[in-house]
Amino acid sequence: MAYCFYDYLGRDPEMAKIINEPAGRKKRLQETFIQWFHEMFTGIDNWSELYAARRWQIGLAHVRVNITPQHVVPAMAIVVREVEKHLKSDNQDDSLTDSLKKICTIDLAFIEQAYVEVLSSSILKETGWTECLFRRIINAGTDSI
Ligand code: HEM
Repeated sequence: MAYCFYDYLGRDPEMAKIINEPAGRKKRLQETFIQWFHEMFTGIDNWSELYAARRWQIGLAHVRVNITPQHVVPAMAIVVREVEKHLKSDNQDDSLTDSLKKICTIDLAFIEQAYVEVLSSSILKETGWTECLFRRIINAGTDSI
């Protein structure tokens, strides 16, 4: 799964650059991906606080290297597609595929939420705007698009 995942990312020149530089990053990423995948099944602490905290950290790690939700959403779709393929060829029950899809969606939500929260709290901190003003600016922006 990890090889298939990074092969997929490597087909896009922008993402290939991110995962291959600096040297050694791809290998580290494959290891952390395997760990991530494994934790979806073990649930760390029965998919509770520790699990959530770990997923949040993964989200923050992506914010730090400027990986946006638009990169992560299609990547998670690849994970789901591959898992589905394996389970089907293994004649596994559909309920297993459904569970895997659910946990992938939850993990995706953590990565996306980290991005949105870091972005908005950094803007509020830097500008001194209130949340209310920020919301009004966003609303005005959506009206003008
Ligand atoms: C299904 C989506 C993804 C999953 C599950 C995933 C998983 C992970 C994990 C577990 C880490 C380690 C976090 C840590 O150090 O705490 C990580 C870091 C990272 N990921 Fe992802 N990732 C995903 C999507 C992507 C995408 C689309 C890219 C873009 C190329 C990417 C690039 C990176 C980079 C550059 C790091 C930091 C590596 C470093 O610290 O050197 N990831 N990812």
